[in-house]
Amino acid sequence: MAGRKTILRALAGETLDTPPIWMMRQAGRYLPEYKATRAEAGDFLSLCYNSDLATEVTLQPIRRYGFDGAILFADILLVPQALGADLWFVTGEGPRLSTITDRAGVDRLKPAAEIHETLNPVYQTVRNLSGALPADTTLIGFAGAPWTVATYMIAGRGTPDQGPAHALKAENKEVFDILMERLTEATIEYLSAQISAGAECVKLFDSWAGSLKGEDFDTYAIAPARRIIAALKARHPGIPVIAFPREAGDKYIGFHEKTGADCVALDDSVSPEWGAGNVQVAGCVQGNLASSHMVTGGQALVDETRRIVDAFSGGPHVFNLGHGITPDADPENVQRMIDTVRGG
Ligand code: CP3
Repeated sequence: MAGRKTILRALAGETLDTPPIWMMRQAGRYLPEYKATRAEAGDFLSLCYNSDLATEVTLQPIRRYGFDGAILFADILLVPQALGADLWFVTGEGPRLSTITDRAGVDRLKPAAEIHETLNPVYQTVRNLSGALPADTTLIGFAGAPWTVATYMIAGRGTPDQGPAHALKAENKEVFDILMERLTEATIEYLSAQISAGAECVKLFDSWAGSLKGEDFDTYAIAPARRIIAALKARHPGIPVIAFPREAGDKYIGFHEKTGADCVALDDSVSPEWGAGNVQVAGCVQGNLASSHMVTGGQALVDETRRIVDAFSGGPHVFNLGHGITPDADPENVQRMIDTVRGG
């Protein structure tokens, strides 16, 4: 398999001497060049929909660091917008959306097949990147998982405990289930279009999976992921899928088998030794350095990076953070992490 891109080799189950590396939110506000391009675009959403500038910010961390993977620059909340929700970002606070609370709200959403009208600029970014990336860099597409996207659509914003979404699920399950169904269909459409445009693997971000307890985890995290992955595999055989059920804890165990994911991304609330013994036994894992090390640096960053590389060295592994890098990170710490992974 030599010659194939390293991330694709790891996702196919190969154990590599040096794990390939990329980083969640690698294009972001910790980089001065990102801030400059974002200023040129005007605001975050204009940047997402400007294919030339979105291509540019996707390439910035590749130029600076030579990551093995480039993640498409976009956002998980573009899908609700494409379904007809209002979306805007409040500087310093985060996303705001029109809320879905009743049957009329879900009935107003556009059919999944109509999302492409809004999302075409994103597919153009993917096409641009296909032609612009270095030959050994893997192009990663992504979407939010239905539960995580639903939490934003129901609350109209990010919430610490996903309370409004849990409340709708408890009080009006019919409406909640219709919303989940619509998001599952839209996610299949969206990821499929990214793959057709040139994405070589895709990642499903279920950032709030950890708040789904008991059977809810099976119904609203595992089942939609399984459906999305099965549909993508049927349409695009051989395209690997990374699933990220963040803070799933014990429920990481079996996630590969239950969903068909080629790789399960681990957050940093589980130890790498636990991840190796309980999750990597079933397939490739990604992760899981705490993003705080990108702020604090020092010997602890080096030690913890080595610990993760060692713990996962017996199986397929893609090195990454446990969650996205934060705006207060020092770009030099990112270089130090990469040097440690690649150089020991
Ligand atoms: O990783 C990358 O570099 C690719 C691009 C990407 C962004 N968002 C760009 C972004 C990806 C993969 C995402 C995923 C995303 N978006 C998730 C899932 C992953 C996670 O972090 O849990 C979620 C929950 C969102 C929704 C979202 N987008 C929030 C809550 C926020 C505000 C918080 C924040 O960090 O500002 C965003 C904004 C956002 N998405 C930024 C970026 C670079 C910052 C926007 C800016 O430039 O001001």
